Amino acid sequence: MPKAELHCHIEGAASTDLVRRQAQKYGVDMEHLIDGQRFVWNDFTSFLTAYDAAAALFRTEEDYALLAQSYLVSIAEEGAIYSEVFISPDHATRAGLSPQAYVDGLGEGIRRARESHGIEGRLIITCVRHFDAGAAIDVARFAASQPHAFVTGFGMGGDERIGSHADFARAFDIARDAGLGITTHAGEIAGPDSIRDALDHVRPTRLGHGVRAIEDPALVEQLAREEIVLEVCPGSNVSLSVFSGFDDHPFRALRDAGVRVTLNADDPPYFATSLGAEYAIAQTEFGLSDDDLLATTRTALEAAFVDEETRAALLAKL
Ligand code: ADE
Ligand code: ZN
Repeated sequence: MPKAELHCHIEGAASTDLVRRQAQKYGVDMEHLIDGQRFVWNDFTSFLTAYDAAAALFRTEEDYALLAQSYLVSIAEEGAIYSEVFISPDHATRAGLSPQAYVDGLGEGIRRARESHGIEGRLIITCVRHFDAGAAIDVARFAASQPHAFVTGFGMGGDERIGSHADFARAFDIARDAGLGITTHAGEIAGPDSIRDALDHVRPTRLGHGVRAIEDPALVEQLAREEIVLEVCPGSNVSLSVFSGFDDHPFRALRDAGVRVTLNADDPPYFATSLGAEYAIAQTEFGLSDDDLLATTRTALEAAFVDEETRAALLAKL
């Protein structure tokens, strides 16, 4: 089954083994945050703390090349033909690396994975909602002036409970005016109002998560009508207790209501998942057929932030 993903945070894709090796390399004690093959966290706040601590262990261009390469190779081995990764120059800056070296390193990792495994990859530059809105403008300006061919989108992650998309509207305007695709996290930890807030202020064509739209039928109708594509991350949602289990997850209901949905792993090792595991969940828990899964891959490729020639080549693989 050819697979494609639109929503994976590169810092959140580092396996516990890789993070352990990086901790050793830089002489940092991470044992309180890693237990065997698990990162230690118990709610959204402690998840973000563990994530930020692991991210701080990637400090050089080659660290990021290795991270992107190892992640893309791992999903290519599960059948992925395309991956869009969220990247965060703020995390690189905090780790002492320039945004340009960060992008160049990640781009090199994508290039290596494409050469060895044929997987295509693109980079979505994100700002971080719980850092600050002023920094977001700098990140957007960097994204807008970014000549790297793999940088094709702009978005925002981080703690949805803080502030409003209105605080970031200017940053998104800068990115949109530069021709970048727009996506943002909303409707994951916060409810339908957070989705309306995102739609009103930053006009995304896609939403990270968006699943809590299910609490508001008029909003579900709007998402379907406006063909907003949801980057759904079922394993992440259940791990973070957004829903109590896959039985309660709205993937199927949103899809049946005509919303364009895709499958994604978000931060795979944090949620004991992978892109392949998400496709398996969709089949066993949501009852999707092989044709349905293929259609989900098609939706992801149709919504991907790539040039039309690359899109056509990817769609031809289906
Ligand atoms: N950053 C990394 N993972 C995230 C998530 N699931 N929600 C918001 N921000 C994130
Ligand atoms: Zn996410």
